[in-house]
Amino acid sequence: MNLKINMMKIGVIGSGKIGGNLGRHWATAGHEVLFSSRQPEELGSLVKEAGENAKAVSVTEAFEAKADAYLLAVPFKAIDNISEVFAGEYANSIIIDATNPYPERDGEMAQEVRDANYNASEYTAMKFSTARTAKAFNTIPAEHLRDRAFGGQDKLAIPFAVQDLESKNLTQKLIEDIGFDAVYVGNLSESKMMDPEEKVYGTEVSKNELLEIVNNKQTA
Ligand SMILES: NC(=O)c1ccc[n+]([C@@H]2O[C@H](COP(=O)([O-])OP(=O)(O)OC[C@H]3O[C@@H](n4cnc5c(N)ncnc54)[C@H](OP(=O)(O)O)[C@@H]3O)[C@@H](O)[C@H]2O)c1
Repeated sequence: MNLKINMMKIGVIGSGKIGGNLGRHWATAGHEVLFSSRQPEELGSLVKEAGENAKAVSVTEAFEAKADAYLLAVPFKAIDNISEVFAGEYANSIIIDATNPYPERDGEMAQEVRDANYNASEYTAMKFSTARTAKAFNTIPAEHLRDRAFGGQDKLAIPFAVQDLESKNLTQKLIEDIGFDAVYVGNLSESKMMDPEEKVYGTEVSKNELLEIVNNKQTA
């Protein structure tokens, strides 16, 4: 990897429970974090809490900043609109997709993705027309993300899936930099096990335990 990977610029798309917590941790770890919102002026307290490495920007400004990676942490239904606006110009961006399709929140399109013969991460990759989509942080409840980062001896494992080596190294580093263990599940086509109600979803386990689940030696 190039030198940049030591200190990355990360665009957070959707600075709610998942994006807010992750962005704060990454800022603590020394990364530059651009929290984005449709109302960036409302992110003052989050930015203050995250400290000097963080700032609030609009979604457009986040993409224009050409971050090293983008965290996608919006309701699943928002993927259609965000990709429509930004996928063309920023198609080669690394997108770490933390979203999940929930029909009760996201409507019919989420049910269609749940019923489709592709998984949720492949939907995001298709929409953003990028082979550099990673899936991570979608399986962990927001409160564990908030409370169990920088875990010392008692680390939680975070599963991730990617398409290419650069995204793999980068995603793994962003998981480990905030004190979780990273467990590689495979490429996006193998990430079905990370989708809601599948065997890796919602697990609260160590690296060895997660590896056993991923390798089918036990079910969650
Ligand atoms: N909560 C969990 O425990 C959890 C765990 C794992 C994965 N996830 C998944 O992670 C994603 C985010 O969940 P969350 O709990 O963080 O949700 P959240 O707290 O509601 O935050 C989502 C953020 O997305 C932004 N947003 C909403 N609609 C948007 C749109 N059309 N365009 C751009 N931005 C939009 C909102 O920001 P503004 O209004 O400021 O623009 C909001 O702050 C979801 O897909 C969820 O299923 C959640």
